[in-house]
Amino acid sequence: MMACAQDETGGLRRLARRARPLALAAALPLALAACNEAEEKMPANVAAGEAIFNDQCAVCHNQSEADAVAPDLAGVVGREAGSWGSFVYSTAMADADFVWNDETLDAYLKDPMGYLPGTNMGYFGLEDDTKRAELIAYLNHISP
Ligand code: HEC
Repeated sequence: MMACAQDETGGLRRLARRARPLALAAALPLALAACNEAEEKMPANVAAGEAIFNDQCAVCHNQSEADAVAPDLAGVVGREAGSWGSFVYSTAMADADFVWNDETLDAYLKDPMGYLPGTNMGYFGLEDDTKRAELIAYLNHISP
């Protein structure tokens, strides 16, 4: 899980606001143990995909909804294209009528403007088939 540490911290912060200190002290080690276990079990291709994501995508796709320059990609697999929250998409993406899955992600990430003319994603595409597969494995990983 990419945002494991962040998720757990966010969850713990919410918990901290509600729970008494004693309950938090009990929950903290459990949450962290679960998190570490998940990180350790991440398959090699997913870990490679995470590195590509951090390198090439996170600069745009890693923001809160209030100030996002790109839609959040946690949960993107299985999601209707152009449907994240109140994000203002290009007309092409907003009008697109398909769901993100391994095939549509592969085509879009290989050649964004070629697959969806009019998309305003400022990304030239990822040519390398292996790297694209790793990236898509990671996107599946963050899409429960
Ligand atoms: C320069 C900023 C930028 C970079 C870098 C970038 N994107 Fe995007 N991405 C966007 C924007 C903006 C959109 C919305 C496009 C539109 O509305 O046409 C988008 C849309 C998407 C969508 C469609 C999401 C939806 O909700 O329908 C996917 C999937 C996606 N990007 C994946 C990626 C991946 C994976 C990478 C890294 C390889 C990446 N993007 C790199 C800016 C970026």
